[in-house]
Amino acid sequence: MKNILITGGAGFIGSHVVRLFVNTFTKDKIYNLDALTYAGNLENLKDIENSPNYEFIQADIQDLALLQTVFKEKNITHVVHLAAESHVDRSITDPLAFVKTNVIGTANLLQTAKEYWKDDFSDNLFYHVSTDEVYGSLGDTGFFYEDTAYDPRSPYSASKASSDHFVRAYHHTYGLPIVISNCSNNYGPNHFPEKLIPLMINNIIHNKPLPIYGEGLNVRDWLYVIDHARAIERIFSGGKLGETYNIGGHNEWSNIDLVNVLCDAMDAKLNRTQGESRKLITYVKDRAGHDLRYAIDATKLKDELGWEPSLQFEEGIKKTIDWYLSNKSWLENVTSGEYTSYYTNMYK
Ligand code: NAD
Ligand code: DAU
Repeated sequence: MKNILITGGAGFIGSHVVRLFVNTFTKDKIYNLDALTYAGNLENLKDIENSPNYEFIQADIQDLALLQTVFKEKNITHVVHLAAESHVDRSITDPLAFVKTNVIGTANLLQTAKEYWKDDFSDNLFYHVSTDEVYGSLGDTGFFYEDTAYDPRSPYSASKASSDHFVRAYHHTYGLPIVISNCSNNYGPNHFPEKLIPLMINNIIHNKPLPIYGEGLNVRDWLYVIDHARAIERIFSGGKLGETYNIGGHNEWSNIDLVNVLCDAMDAKLNRTQGESRKLITYVKDRAGHDLRYAIDATKLKDELGWEPSLQFEEGIKKTIDWYLSNKSWLENVTSGEYTSYYTNMYK
């Protein structure tokens, strides 16, 4: 029986991973360790919180002693590490928070796993969930491959790149059994409305300006979050130790084209005249150091583990909009309190 520690399981992607693991690995125990920062929300897991193979632990990965206690008390055998500060804009205003959680927090987990597993790693795995942003920024053509050189350009991506290096260093130096995946932009239910898609959906609902950075020509490769969770499960179960897998949607959109699609779909849903929401689009000051384009080549994952995205973008966007419109109280809860001052400072 495995005792699987998932970190950051109350967040956006983590909550979908926790649900999938609880429902898939029914004979194993899933521990969700999360500090419940502004981005963590146990509401995301209401449907599985009473499952017999699930337990929540509130803890901060910056707290080494607490991690040691958790590993010992729960006899942790496997780690799926998602806990992180995840928003690029916040990393520009508060970079050290990203060093503390993403770099030191990851190093704490690695060291705890190494010490607790006592160098006999036969039944263990440390799975580190990372981002395509570590590879830097692409021009108009080309893709990120697993062997693309690292070139992080924001404090967020630098902290994730650093954590990836620590994970690989523990593999090469101590033999810690690791896998890493680097994924493109996710979207879907439970996405915190500081990120592009849920922020736009929330603002369209409230007839608020839609802030597009720069000229809106930056390109992202969007993947439905449940497809990311499926990829993580596949890599957890069958990935080769020491390897890296890229995960992506083969679904590139410039920000302005994407926001236009959202506006039109929301107009239809909200019975507004077509074109009404597009009038809310407002071009604002560009993000500092804004990466132009990300695009993932996920051939390795398809060839080795048979994973492919299951949803077309049109269907994923429809499901996402439907989810936000049916979960207005979730949106209201997360956009009260700290969010109000964040939003005012960010978009003043
Ligand atoms: P998120 O911000 O929605 O959630 C992060 C979670 O981590 C929250 O529940 C938060 O409470 C928790 N957390 C933060 N600091 C912590 C700490 N010090 N100790 C314990 N828990 C802490 O993030 P997300 O978008 O779900 O991203 C999850 C992971 O996936 C991150 O590692 C991120 O880098 C990576 N990733 C995200 C995307 C994306 O598009 N969102 C794409 C690729 C990779
Ligand atoms: O590529 C994977 C990464 O994708 C993850 O590692 C990050 O955790 C995740 O936040 C995401 O980073 P991005 O910076 O690409 O996502 P974000 O939703 O913040 O922005 C998407 C694009 O939209 C980007 O080009 C900036 C732009 N944007 C964003 C916001 C919030 C705007 O034009 N206006 C906005 O208000």
